[in-house]
Amino acid sequence: MRRGSIFQLVGFGLIFGAIAGAVAVLVPWLPTSAGEEADRIDFVFWFTTVIAVAVFSVVAAVLAYSVLKFRVRPEDLSDGPPTHGHTGLEIVWTAIPTVLVTAISIVSAIVLAQNSRAGSNPLNIKVVAQQFAWQFTYPNGQTYGILRLPKGRAAKLDITAKDVIHSFWVPQLAQKQDAVPGQHNKLVVTPKRTGTFPVICTELCGLGHAIMRSRAEVMEKAAFNKWLKSGGKPAGQDPGLAVFNQQGCNGCHTFTAARSAGQIGPNLDKLTSEAKKAKKPLEPFIRESILDPTAYVEPGYKAGVMPPFKGQIPAGDLDALIKYLATNAKS
Ligand code: CUA
Repeated sequence: MRRGSIFQLVGFGLIFGAIAGAVAVLVPWLPTSAGEEADRIDFVFWFTTVIAVAVFSVVAAVLAYSVLKFRVRPEDLSDGPPTHGHTGLEIVWTAIPTVLVTAISIVSAIVLAQNSRAGSNPLNIKVVAQQFAWQFTYPNGQTYGILRLPKGRAAKLDITAKDVIHSFWVPQLAQKQDAVPGQHNKLVVTPKRTGTFPVICTELCGLGHAIMRSRAEVMEKAAFNKWLKSGGKPAGQDPGLAVFNQQGCNGCHTFTAARSAGQIGPNLDKLTSEAKKAKKPLEPFIRESILDPTAYVEPGYKAGVMPPFKGQIPAGDLDALIKYLATNAKS
């Protein structure tokens, strides 16, 4: 091979490497990591990306060089010379990818093993998904619609679902985990910076899938412990409102008193007029609609979208919820 050809090949390689490298580095492909597990996953991404950019620049350089150097001259209609291949080359281009892919597998396996380790003192949180809301139960026995996490401490999530398959995802924490009825999947998250991040359902689970969102609030350790100790209930909050948010009513329904604006189910501000339409007294109407939503379906809505809550809400909570809805309905 002539020296000029080698310079040309290397030149092409540098150009293609620079272009691919710029696309990898300058485009913000991933959200800024907010967790230790996400940092490790980012590392795997970059490890793989560097390999991919290197392979791409070699292949693209050889391709560009060959197209320019060996292209057919005008008017040349003859066949090319028969070639049998090149055993040495074939061994090299099989061996190198084998080594690279094996390296990626090993790095991924190490990261997966590290990411499933919760340490000796994790914060245990039970995560329950249902159409179309998330519930987070803490060691203090309280259940909330928002995931609050302390910075710098591993939280071990025990994830399950009540009805169909959902999937838990906080992009800044990088990992996804399916929520499956009857199954308890584990996920360890160790937040490294404070902030508010979206909790997203990332498994198509029904009509309200796109709005099945909550948020994760990462707090300083001291603030988190104070919040957990106080039970997380702001003073003077109506117990019915707490149930409203815990059970995920806010995910699907508009209710001005609770500042919820869900559009999947009927507007609960109009409960009084709906009870009249159904020819039932208000409180029994609300009770029936929660426990057996198909008994009366508001015109314009489909039966079966809302799951029946029979046996899902403790009796005291149910009473508080019904009272809260009845007293705060506007019309
Ligand atoms: Cu739950 Cu999608």
